[in-house]
Amino acid sequence: MTSGDPVTAADLIVVANRLPVDYETLPDGSTGWKRSPGGLVTALEPTLRAREGAWVGWPGVPDVDVEPFAEDGLTLHPVKLTATEVQDYYEGFSNGTLWPLYHDVVAQPQFHRHWWRAYTTVNQRFAEAVADVAAHGATVWVQDYQLQLVPGLLRELRPDLRIGFFLHIPFPPVELFRQLPWRTRIMEGLLGADLVGFHTDGGVRNFHWLAQELAGATPDRDPEVVRYGDRRVRLGAFPISIDSRNLDELSRTDEVRARAAQIRSELGNPAKIALGVDRLDYTKGIDVRLRAFHELLQEGRITGGDTSGEHADDAIDTAMIQLATPSRERVEHYQQMRDDIEMSVGRINGEYARVGHPAVHYIHRSLPREELVAFFLAADVMLVTPLRDGMNLVAKEYVASRHDDGGVLVLSEFAGAAIELTSALLVNPHDTDGVKEALYAALTMNPDEGQKRMRTLRRQVLDHDVDRWAASFLETLGVKVAQPE
Ligand code: ADP
Ligand code: G6P
Repeated sequence: MTSGDPVTAADLIVVANRLPVDYETLPDGSTGWKRSPGGLVTALEPTLRAREGAWVGWPGVPDVDVEPFAEDGLTLHPVKLTATEVQDYYEGFSNGTLWPLYHDVVAQPQFHRHWWRAYTTVNQRFAEAVADVAAHGATVWVQDYQLQLVPGLLRELRPDLRIGFFLHIPFPPVELFRQLPWRTRIMEGLLGADLVGFHTDGGVRNFHWLAQELAGATPDRDPEVVRYGDRRVRLGAFPISIDSRNLDELSRTDEVRARAAQIRSELGNPAKIALGVDRLDYTKGIDVRLRAFHELLQEGRITGGDTSGEHADDAIDTAMIQLATPSRERVEHYQQMRDDIEMSVGRINGEYARVGHPAVHYIHRSLPREELVAFFLAADVMLVTPLRDGMNLVAKEYVASRHDDGGVLVLSEFAGAAIELTSALLVNPHDTDGVKEALYAALTMNPDEGQKRMRTLRRQVLDHDVDRWAASFLETLGVKVAQPE
């Protein structure tokens, strides 16, 4: 990516903790940009690019000064963070306090006052950066839990702006949110927006109640509006999606199909392939699916790389693949979880692999898009088993990639995606037996039933793509946006 056109004041601005690209320094000392991790970027980048918007965000490394630059329909405005701010605002308050708290406390959140102070300082800096680039009367779309104070701060700086906020992770139950020592400040920050969006109605309900309880908002005749000061703040559920057509088309290309066949043969043509694709995060339930797979091996109902051990005559020769993008590697919970997962993979392979044929193939790297789609196409069963997840785009990506109507999706009830993808095999990730039986049912599913389910899933995912999501949010915000070409 290179600098391009001159930068001008923008009418539509996305502000997110990260830019869609991370700044990187290569071993030879040269610098460049690579795609940032996570679902927020996957979803927003294509839709914002098509609308020629601006994006304000952190370039992903501390202490770098990068000038704004324009690139292929998108203008990027880097916000600098110091190493201490990255520690306290990003790794600390965002990912050591808010992330676990908002994901149903699946890990213990930590509350530290210096983390909160850094969060307020950095949110102020983001608000000022947006105020500098926004044209008069522009629309600003603030993203996610790292920037919850920005709507309120920005409204003070620029009352002329139309401000939307979207939360990409679950909004927690009332009892959990109330643990937060700075709960009122967060609510006040969010209520600076004209529209606050969540993935689900549950998020809307929790927010509606807390806005009254903590910030003195009052109800309106419209149940999706609260009155705050002299303003009306609209709330809404907007389940996010993906660029489904693009993935569908990619999955149909000769290159991707050939690569999918090659993956199968590289694995030794097992009868079945089960796949997991995630950021390496403790909310994703990677341990849950490994446990289910391990128990099926122990029970002899499937075989892994080594088929010489004891197993039933009709045991299914199954390879499992786990692709895991490195994530938040300096945060303690993440380090612990990585150790645990890698130990489980090692243990399963120690017991069930034979030379050249692991039972679990584990790759701790980010893969190119085409390669990922080839894995989706090669996988008979997709395991998406988070303990809690705002949406989970991987589930939708798998479905969009199955132009052949093949493959079975096993999906956690605790992913936002489960509300729409009801034809998946839905599982409770806390119930190991349930996950195990669902995995076995997916491996043995009659092809007619599998195709019927996949066709229904595909209708949902192809009809409700990310552009429809963005248009629906922006229209509710009252913005007349031209549909992308
Ligand atoms: P989250 O936003 O919590 O990371 P999502 O499932 O919503 O979870 O989005 C994850 C995004 O990251 C998806 O677009 C997915 O394809 C991508 N991704 C996950 N793992 C990998 C990987 N190993 N290589 C490349 N992309 C990945
Ligand atoms: C999730 C969050 C995003 C975040 C992404 C990657 O999708 O909702 O806000 O950007 O994970 O996490 P990271 O901490 O690497 O930005």
